[in-house]
Amino acid sequence: MRTLRVLTLLSAAVLLCSAAPGLEPLTCSEGNGPAAADKAVHHINEHHDHGYKFRLHEVQGNSVEQVDGGCNVKLQLDLQETKCHTINPKPFEDCEIRRMGERAVKANCTVLMTIKDGDADITKYECDTRQEKTNLEMVRICPDCPVLLPLNNSEGLKSVREATAEFNKNTSNQHYYILKEVGRISTGYIMGLGMNYYPEFALVETHCPMGSRIIIEACIPLCPNRARHAFCRSSYSSQNGLLSTECDFYPAENTTALGPGEKEPVCGRHPHGHGGPPPHAHDHGRGPPPHADKGGRPPHAHDHGRGPPPHAHDHGCGPPPDPALHPICPWPLPHRPHN
Ligand SMILES: *[C@@H]1O[C@H](CO)[C@@H](O)[C@H](O)[C@H]1NC(C)=O
Ligand SMILES: *[C@@H]1O[C@H](CO)[C@@H](O)[C@H](O)[C@H]1NC(C)=O
Ligand SMILES: *[C@@H]1O[C@H](CO)[C@@H](O)[C@H](O)[C@H]1NC(C)=O
Ligand SMILES: *[C@@H]1O[C@H](CO)[C@@H](O)[C@H](O)[C@H]1NC(C)=O
Repeated sequence: MRTLRVLTLLSAAVLLCSAAPGLEPLTCSEGNGPAAADKAVHHINEHHDHGYKFRLHEVQGNSVEQVDGGCNVKLQLDLQETKCHTINPKPFEDCEIRRMGERAVKANCTVLMTIKDGDADITKYECDTRQEKTNLEMVRICPDCPVLLPLNNSEGLKSVREATAEFNKNTSNQHYYILKEVGRISTGYIMGLGMNYYPEFALVETHCPMGSRIIIEACIPLCPNRARHAFCRSSYSSQNGLLSTECDFYPAENTTALGPGEKEPVCGRHPHGHGGPPPHAHDHGRGPPPHADKGGRPPHAHDHGRGPPPHAHDHGCGPPPDPALHPICPWPLPHRPHN
């Protein structure tokens, strides 16, 4: 029995070591920079639930201060935004980085970590998330490259609404979907077509059955782990309207069929009320849809999709320095008062 347990531990250790560099126990040597950075990037992505996943580009600084029983590590990390939205289940390591012409986004992060007995704890980080090149710089390098619009741009949001309506004509879907978040909106001028808009956005499956006569915008998202999600790219011309919409579907995490007479659980709108498995309203993980933040608002309070979607631009970490993108929020999140 004892031998068996030792063997199991040993093989577990071997597995851990061979799986990924980030899973090696961290020590306090300076040479640990890459492993510590890997750990930090995992942590950052796990707590980043708006916009896109990030990958490590470069460790720019790594200072280790020995303290009692371990050390404090300070990392300066240069991250790059990927094309995987946070709803995409793909590991961030497998996601493609945006190229400069696609309006790349980078984040410069200062990360503090404490290492004791091989255990690493991220204690704090702050990131400066910005476009790799400003619009002004891009005009000189690549005048035909797209420009990013603020996420609340009204023409851009109109294109998202039209694409979502088109999406909801697909009768292969079981339920209607509603907007979860606009990821980015790029735009460019095309001769003969006027301004073109290329939004990317995430949709979430709702309770409303496909084909029901209902105001779709008033539909409530399924619980985050029971909802399918879709990530869409569309193109829209100011002169000719919607040109195309292409979406990737991501299956629900929990696909357990409901038992006879069992109702689909309700999550989201009343984060503290409905039993069910909704995470806390200010949970920083894969939380309820953004509409839930202020809780308790009845669906008919929305203006049925004419205005910008509620909280479409609420990252949960204050006003963004660049309204065109989703920044990496600091950790730990400063407490937000309820309003
Ligand atoms: C990143 O931020 C640190 C601290 O704010 C600064 O010293 C460094 O120059 C920045 N690096 C880049 C590439 O912007
Ligand atoms: C977008 O949001 C900013 C504040 O973040 C606001 O000043 C601006 O008026 C908004 N624009 C639209 C079109 O809603
Ligand atoms: C319609 O939805 C299904 C999934 O429900 C998807 O596989 C298919 O590609 C969609 N069709 C179009 C034209 O978007
Ligand atoms: C999956 O959803 C069903 C229905 O709400 C629930 O009974 C079950 O506990 C869920 N399973 C997991 C693993 O969350």
